[in-house]
Amino acid sequence: MEKMLKDSHYLFQQLLFKYKDQVEWEKGRALFLALEYRCQATAEHSVVVAFIAYHLAIQINCDTHTGERMFLAGLLHDIGKLKLPDDILKSQRLITSEEHQTIVSHVQGGYDALKVLGFGSDILQFCLTHHERLDGSGYPQGISERSMIGKIAPISDVYSALKLPRLYRPSSLNDEHILKYFIENNHQFEEDYIQELLKFLTTWRSHHNVTEKLSV
Ligand SMILES: [Fe+2]
Ligand SMILES: [Fe+2]
Repeated sequence: MEKMLKDSHYLFQQLLFKYKDQVEWEKGRALFLALEYRCQATAEHSVVVAFIAYHLAIQINCDTHTGERMFLAGLLHDIGKLKLPDDILKSQRLITSEEHQTIVSHVQGGYDALKVLGFGSDILQFCLTHHERLDGSGYPQGISERSMIGKIAPISDVYSALKLPRLYRPSSLNDEHILKYFIENNHQFEEDYIQELLKFLTTWRSHHNVTEKLSV
């Protein structure tokens, strides 16, 4: 996992340098810093979401600029979690159904904040759709969101959530198990995009000399 986290932060630094005079990136950087100070685990989750969203976009033949916008969107998708109280945000136990409702509110909270701050519609859409599922079983709207962003956001979010250890789940899943999870739940996630994720991970792993094959 350290390798992916390291690569994600490296790409982040490159993009910050590239867009250092761009207001939206500067605002994004400030928000992300606030998230890092408040909850390191959520910030690390977000930077991996950004990394996967960028590479998925490139993998499906989006141009570089669109990929970079997906990176920024990934960084900020959970910014609404800044509103959550510590005993929920940093909980190491299973949450109650009442607390779940509070967690659900981070999507709308994030969307509202990003809108007020003048972020583009792509960033807003990523935030709003990252917990939606193709079969309508997601939240907050329970819609079947079939736009490109609406397909990238949930896959990136779930990949990162399963890949990184969480406060309530110290161990993480390996790529093979994560891909199997996606394939078993292909009514929730776009199958073509899962195949593109598999291709990206295969390339990325060979770049890092991970020799065992992804047999899914
Ligand atoms: Fe979220
Ligand atoms: Fe997330």
